[in-house]
Amino acid sequence: MHPIRQPIGVFDSGIGGLTVVKALMEDLPCESIVYFGDTARVPYGTKSKSTIVRFSLENVEFLLRFGVKCIVVACNTSSSLALPTLSRYFKVPIVGVIRPGALAAVRETQNKRIGVIGTRATINSKAYETAIHRIDPKVKVYSQSCPLFVPLVEEGWLNGDVCLNIANRYLDPLRQQSIDTLILGCTHYPLLTRTLRKVLGPDVVLVDSAKETVTEIRGVLMGSDSLCERRIKPRYRFFVTDEPHYFHDIGRRFLGRVVGSVERVNS
Ligand code: DGL
Repeated sequence: MHPIRQPIGVFDSGIGGLTVVKALMEDLPCESIVYFGDTARVPYGTKSKSTIVRFSLENVEFLLRFGVKCIVVACNTSSSLALPTLSRYFKVPIVGVIRPGALAAVRETQNKRIGVIGTRATINSKAYETAIHRIDPKVKVYSQSCPLFVPLVEEGWLNGDVCLNIANRYLDPLRQQSIDTLILGCTHYPLLTRTLRKVLGPDVVLVDSAKETVTEIRGVLMGSDSLCERRIKPRYRFFVTDEPHYFHDIGRRFLGRVVGSVERVNS
């Protein structure tokens, strides 16, 4: 198959990577996508580095069966802990979400005080901090893990008192540090934008890593002459490792449209 027609492979620990797929569908509408959600083993955010690396290697192996032209690690936790290993193991270009998010945040901040929120594994890895300091060592980074946000989003409690109270509790330490930019360092958090805005006020810039990642993917594909810009009808395929029903139902919230057919495969 000509590289232009080859699909882009995307993987996540489960459903959240659909926020990256949504951004891909919007910004690169001719590209076909193969999505793999490891729903049988989600969450990754509470697991150890060695486990996350092992799962991520297996996820890439699965996507390679479809002759993908590049792979997007949509999961912030996998990107934080496994990306260097994946890039060493495989020849196919692999794009994570950390560097694009860090670049956008450094571009946006005026007072050089950036907040980062993510799963425990992402925050403990300091991946965002490292990426930001590679770009600008003078920036101060304040990080906070928000483990309750993932179940809240999957439950659909995106607004309202419970969500607002939890967000206030998590974000108060960051607010005290006068951050002017916040990286939403987890696939699920863009769905909480309204609540996060209420807590932080209108002046703090919220950086959605998903959107920024698509810019990097475009660059990678242009660099290898494999960007699809022709009016070709794209094909979208979704694979999960557990019962597809839940993915199908909740996926709509993440994707902003009905998820097509979802196939179950063994993990
Ligand atoms: N996809 C994960 C992330 O972006 C969140 C869910 C999980 O913990 O696996 O970090």
